[in-house]
Amino acid sequence: MATQTETLPSAVGSLSLSGSLSPLKSTGALEQYKPVELTPVIGTQFRGVQLGDLLDAPNADDLLKELAITIHRRNVVFFKEQKAQLTNDQLKRLATKLGQLTASAAGTEWGGLHIHPTEKHRDDNEISPITAQAFGAGRKRSRQTGSLLASRGWHTDITFEPVPSDIAILNVWEIPENGGDTLWASAYEAYDRLTPALAKFLEGLTALHDGNHFHKVAELQKKPLYDGVRGHPLNDGANLQAVHPLITVNPVTGWKGLFVNQVFTKRIVELSEDESDHLLKYLFTLVRENHDLQVRFKWEKNDVALWSNTSSYHNVTLDYTGYNRTGHRAVSLGSKPFFTSEGKSRREDLGLGAWIE
Ligand SMILES: [Fe+2]
Repeated sequence: MATQTETLPSAVGSLSLSGSLSPLKSTGALEQYKPVELTPVIGTQFRGVQLGDLLDAPNADDLLKELAITIHRRNVVFFKEQKAQLTNDQLKRLATKLGQLTASAAGTEWGGLHIHPTEKHRDDNEISPITAQAFGAGRKRSRQTGSLLASRGWHTDITFEPVPSDIAILNVWEIPENGGDTLWASAYEAYDRLTPALAKFLEGLTALHDGNHFHKVAELQKKPLYDGVRGHPLNDGANLQAVHPLITVNPVTGWKGLFVNQVFTKRIVELSEDESDHLLKYLFTLVRENHDLQVRFKWEKNDVALWSNTSSYHNVTLDYTGYNRTGHRAVSLGSKPFFTSEGKSRREDLGLGAWIE
């Protein structure tokens, strides 16, 4: 896509911290619930622990702050064997608490709950109904216009917003007989797979993120696109574009991540169009083709996934027919994405050694 740099929104890559970087330490408050790490790199799972009980526990703030730290460190956390689906109120309280508790401790702003530009017509606009129909499950692919690659769907939520998401929560209660798995990938590990020379080069760059295809979605839904304030005063208007640093630092972990995704990131601002296209293609390939930085999750009724949009990507599998995968999502807004040289590689910070010799 050709994009004239003169028309780009101004970069928002400045440091949005009130002081220096102060990553949060794990307190071990959730160890009693026996979390299981699903891969060495990404994904932690709890079984039978009721999220509703954590929300109402006398020490809820301690437990939820630790949960938010776990989400940012492990990219995605799953809660299986939930007795009931979460109410919209529980989902919103949870998203608010997770965002607020970590932002105040890390010295960043918490942005609010997002209103998706195509969801304003619903009764509760801070909740996005996630249905198979919306994503086109079961539809035939078009030879002329459609992609035949399932990997095209890798993305990070709403990065077209100047203040994008820190954490998203999805509760799914209607599931197909099989299929419909979701995959997540680690932006920390994608960063750690750059050679030091390339990493250093990318740390000085910014990229344009564009969600203006949602105008077409709104048109197809025959509902006007919501161009009002979407959870934060900076997320306003009909032009769904933002410029973010290409490498960002997660304020909760202090770890550097690769902040580009192939659905929304269109252009590296400081490079020519050709250079940008080639480099972005390689960066997207790093995420798509390294299955050892991904985790694949098989949904069961009432399961909940909570993920860090600051530091991960995800992709749904549209391999089932019929419209029988239904859930609700709440999306918390973080602070403006930023880069600081105080950030560290995850591998370096955990003493794992470099991935590349
Ligand atoms: Fe998503």
